[in-house]
Amino acid sequence: MTSRDKILNLFRTCPDQYLSGQDISRSLNISRTAVWKQVKVLRELGFEIEAKHSLGYRLLATPDLLLTSEIESGLNCQLLGQSVVSLAETDSTNVLARRLGEEGALEGTVVVADRQSAGRGRLGRRWESPPGINLYCSILLRPKIPVQQAPQLTFLSAVAVVETLKEVCHLSAEVKWPNDILVGGAKISGLLNEMNAETEQIHFVILGVGVNLNMTEAQFPDILNYPATSVLLETGKPVDRLIFLQAFLQRLDLYYAEFLKEGFSPVRRRWEKLCNMMNMQVEVDQGGGSLCGTVVGLDTEGALRLQLDNGQVERILAGDVRPVKI
Ligand code: BTN
Repeated sequence: MTSRDKILNLFRTCPDQYLSGQDISRSLNISRTAVWKQVKVLRELGFEIEAKHSLGYRLLATPDLLLTSEIESGLNCQLLGQSVVSLAETDSTNVLARRLGEEGALEGTVVVADRQSAGRGRLGRRWESPPGINLYCSILLRPKIPVQQAPQLTFLSAVAVVETLKEVCHLSAEVKWPNDILVGGAKISGLLNEMNAETEQIHFVILGVGVNLNMTEAQFPDILNYPATSVLLETGKPVDRLIFLQAFLQRLDLYYAEFLKEGFSPVRRRWEKLCNMMNMQVEVDQGGGSLCGTVVGLDTEGALRLQLDNGQVERILAGDVRPVKI
């Protein structure tokens, strides 16, 4: 933990109180000049810190920043967030998490960035990642499960995002197979899970999660090939990114523990309840051609089960699903 994080922790443990420069310097074992320098950096980051001659420093307000120490503080998880890496900018949190995974990072490592310069979406698409407003996060997991079960983890993060939107933002969202979260038909969050494995063994899985939280109309790109929205646009209220992230990680942590103990069934049931197209007539565009049928659920490996008109149930492994307009 850096001296800056330690100073923030001191402020947090003594809310609304003045801390003298001398006390801070003693408890951190750094000089008073070093304390003053760190306070200056914190102010530059947007922390409002009052300084009174005979009393010392007092924290008045914190900016909406996702700092490692802020994320870790008060995070109530068994496994997730054992290590948190938070950056002002990176190309893609998935890319960084993958690199950390290859270097042997702990299971449960969380990578967060304020901005991504090359945020990645599914099928090689771009994920718009402007600074200061949304959540871009990747979680490293090392589950001891067969390789073909890895796609099941996508559904864990989907359920956790929808439930966090409800809990923190009072917003009802739906899941769309395989990896979208929608509100009123517009995309509010996307998931990109990537795996590093050999034939029989998973080394690690990266759960990549992007949620449009405080994005305004003007901040969406002019050309998007799907309707998109944000929590701010839907509710009119800004979301505290830190609160959202912590609530999401706590929920995902619980579901991951349950998944390792009980398998896919509980998550699958929750996902099916949140799916916007259950029992609906849909058309699945599979690139080369399309299939029509009724969505009847997920199978044990996370494929979409589509019942065709002749009663036969097909497993859909990839494709774009659209409701059929009757
Ligand atoms: C999609 O819907 O196409 C998936 C979007 C996934 C975006 C997230 S943002 C955090 C993580 N880092 C990335 O580069 N992508 C994922």
